[in-house]
Amino acid sequence: MMRDDMKAILYTKEEVAERVRQMGAQLTADYKGEDPILVGVLRGSFIFMADLVRCIETPLELDFVAASSYGTWAVSTGQVDLRLDLEKDIIGRHVIVVEDILDTGRTLSKLVDELKKRHPASLKLCVLLDKPERRVAQIEADYVGFTVPDEFVVGCGLDFNQKYRQLPYIGILKPSVYE
Ligand code: PRP
Repeated sequence: MMRDDMKAILYTKEEVAERVRQMGAQLTADYKGEDPILVGVLRGSFIFMADLVRCIETPLELDFVAASSYGTWAVSTGQVDLRLDLEKDIIGRHVIVVEDILDTGRTLSKLVDELKKRHPASLKLCVLLDKPERRVAQIEADYVGFTVPDEFVVGCGLDFNQKYRQLPYIGILKPSVYE
């Protein structure tokens, strides 16, 4: 079972659900009447985004981009490919970029630079996890679910070699699994 590959469970399913509910309430208050566009960054954001939007009570639109900074192994190359672009024009719109994790920040800083060129009315970042110890790029999220230590975290959309995304909790992978 996948649970056997975990060194520990960092946040349980219930703790994640409660935090996402709080974030949804915050966004509901902050974006009342603004009709924001939530931009999910595939693939990691899909579970958090699906949970989050169901906790937001004000109208919104959804769009997606696909950016990948990593290959199949856990080494960042410093390059970000925009493999899928937005369907919608975001000029004059309130944009909220939704991500599973802000790690080195390379992915999101490049994505934010690109989206800012399109002149949104505002652009904020909303991440389930923030791992500040690993930050290389100068970027911070506006909404953070949990600040996590520099451990190999998986679940709730976060993968290792495309596995473990479906775990309903945030787990720390045993080093023997990835070493
Ligand atoms: C992960 C994650 C972020 C990025 C964060 O995506 O979803 O997009 O890495 O890392 P950074 O802050 O160091 O740039 P990944 O490229 O693994 O693709 P995925 O979303 O398909 O898992």
